[in-house]
Amino acid sequence: MPVGITDTAMRDAHQSLLATRMRTADLLPIAEQMDEIGYHSLEVWGGATFDTALRYLKEDPWERLRALKSRIKKTPLQMLLRGQNAVGYRHYADDVVEKFCELSVQNGMDIFRIFDAVNDTRNMETAFQAVRRAGGHVQGTVCYTISPVFTIQTAVDMARELAQMGADSLCLKDMAGLLDPMTAYDIIRAIKEAVSLPLALHSHCTSGMADMVYIKAIEAGIDSVDTAISSMSHGTSQPPTESLVATLRGTRWDPKLDLQRLTDIAEYFAKVRRKYAAFESNIFGVDAAVLIHQMPGGMISNMVNQLREQGAESRLPEVLDEMPRVREDLGFPPLVTPTSQIVGAQSVLNVLMGERYKVVSNEVRQYLAGFYGRPPVPVNSEVQRKVLGDRVAITDRPADHIAPELEKARADAGAHAQSDEDVVSYAMFPQVAKDFFEWRAAGGGPEKEIVAAIAAALTAEQRRAQTAAQETTPAPRGGGGIQYLPTWRVAGRQRLQRG
Ligand code: CO
Repeated sequence: MPVGITDTAMRDAHQSLLATRMRTADLLPIAEQMDEIGYHSLEVWGGATFDTALRYLKEDPWERLRALKSRIKKTPLQMLLRGQNAVGYRHYADDVVEKFCELSVQNGMDIFRIFDAVNDTRNMETAFQAVRRAGGHVQGTVCYTISPVFTIQTAVDMARELAQMGADSLCLKDMAGLLDPMTAYDIIRAIKEAVSLPLALHSHCTSGMADMVYIKAIEAGIDSVDTAISSMSHGTSQPPTESLVATLRGTRWDPKLDLQRLTDIAEYFAKVRRKYAAFESNIFGVDAAVLIHQMPGGMISNMVNQLREQGAESRLPEVLDEMPRVREDLGFPPLVTPTSQIVGAQSVLNVLMGERYKVVSNEVRQYLAGFYGRPPVPVNSEVQRKVLGDRVAITDRPADHIAPELEKARADAGAHAQSDEDVVSYAMFPQVAKDFFEWRAAGGGPEKEIVAAIAAALTAEQRRAQTAAQETTPAPRGGGGIQYLPTWRVAGRQRLQRG
């Protein structure tokens, strides 16, 4: 069977490499050419693209979807959906998630890759049902993570459950690029033996293993993999499409994509990418530190920033020690948006306050009260008591505690909202959407382009200042700065192999 290729250039690749800043105007000129390639699907929407379009680009994300759909007619469009968080950062009421899914299908979305940050399938139920009702393809996702409680059996059990919930296909999602080739082989074999649905693999090159992971995944029977056109690949992005296509040529897995045509697309994105140089992260090669500390790419740099703001950068080693403890207290959640931020921020607080959980972020309080769902194993009950006091945590589906939000959003948005799509944008990002609507009502137009250009220039300036600061204060990432091997990492690997 040929392996399906999903190209991520229009979503994850620029989310990972260019802070999600690629504009619709830079996506459209190449859309028709990409449609001719014969990809399994094109990942073009969801994740952070929705928020970023409204917030920074002053673009209507719905308009982007429609514009892409009008040019990409043969290849299924794919998006990343954060379960009950949809494309936002908190749980929304069911009516918002339902409407979002329905409108996404109506505006042209085909495949919905649905995941939950703590792998709680109850947080995926509403999206599953809404996508299916609207006629979309439901791809149920297992988030891969390394922890003492995540085993091959965990992944298989969850895959089975997602199949029972009506998934049309499955995805193993390695959002942090932590999956190694041998483990990938074992997990994929096990899932394929247990469930007869097509299985996709999503990984990142951050740790340098993803290209190898894909080969082992293909040997293990994976049905499709996520790659990025070469000029948008590697670093913290996906493995390059062309290299995999060339690797598989003449084998039984040959996706038979035209390398010359792919090269033309690569040249296009190489040019476009230069425009966004201000948003490049400074990780281009392999972030070997990830192999040691096993934290997702952005997590360490976020914490360093948080510490720097407090003038406490020297406390980083303590924070890195604290982090696996906090994660354990929270029941070993996978580290992905938003759990990675929650664990990271609380670890900083625990260290800086000199007493663990003396000060607690609102997110951790909500998490311990059950509002993010059921973590892989129960949370630390002592910590829970300390934080919640007499308050009793919920154990049922978090969204059952959220009253409908859509009509209130419609009323609040008022005349600003010109469509149901606007109402949903507003329900998820009230302030950001309102700013956008006002800008649009004022005519948008070229002067706003100038504002955007100035904003980009300012960001570039900030980045230069940051880099300069990093150069004078050696950053403790990479090299030998972090001598850190959490005990659960070793335990996790052993468990994984036995499971
Ligand atoms: Co990703």
